[in-house]
Amino acid sequence: MADLGAGHLSGLTEADPAWEAAWAPYDEATYQAALAALRPTDVVLDLGAGDLRFARQAARRCRRVIAIERRLPLLRAAGPWPANLWPVCADLRQWHWPPGVTVGVLLMRHCRRFAEYAAGLRAAGAGRLITNARWGLGVEVIDLEAPRRPFAEAAGRWYACACGAAGFAPGPPGALDEQALDQMVEVRACPRCEPP
Ligand SMILES: C[S@@+](CC[C@H](N)C(=O)[O-])C[C@H]1O[C@@H](n2cnc3c(N)ncnc32)[C@H](O)[C@@H]1O
Repeated sequence: MADLGAGHLSGLTEADPAWEAAWAPYDEATYQAALAALRPTDVVLDLGAGDLRFARQAARRCRRVIAIERRLPLLRAAGPWPANLWPVCADLRQWHWPPGVTVGVLLMRHCRRFAEYAAGLRAAGAGRLITNARWGLGVEVIDLEAPRRPFAEAAGRWYACACGAAGFAPGPPGALDEQALDQMVEVRACPRCEPP
């Protein structure tokens, strides 16, 4: 995979596989929304931590932060760090999910491995995932233990799937009401991961 250098995204489109590998910070509103979802007792796994700008702030609020980033130069330039922040240079695709993590943070809008990472966190016992990967814009807090409903039950509502897809599930026009539009249904087997 291409190493594009810090902050270098020029010439890439968001569909390019190299986009995910590139380092790009988010805006302050994104970081603040993710920080607000953390608890003092949390042990955080920051997935694709970049230059640790989020991990550092999280470490001030939480018990511990384990920050995984595959690009060593970013981590080298980010030191020194507080004692409860543990940076690890590793590739999440070949990573042994550590026990004891309570929450994952995946600030990676163009992540193509959402399902894999969410499943890894769940298997390691984490209860929540804070991410901008499914909706692309806002930050959401996913309850990793919440039951997932069949896609058909999302008809006429917003849905988000275990595979990382999110959107509006078509339904009969008569079924649309304000309350339905306010709801988001966690589903499994959406049309993207299980085409009809
Ligand atoms: C868009 S940046 C966001 C960085 C950080 N989460 C933030 O919000 O400040 C995504 C980061 O994830 C890292 N990354 C992408 N895929 C990875 C993988 N498989 N293993 C480890 N790090 C990865 C990239 O190197 C990059 O630094």
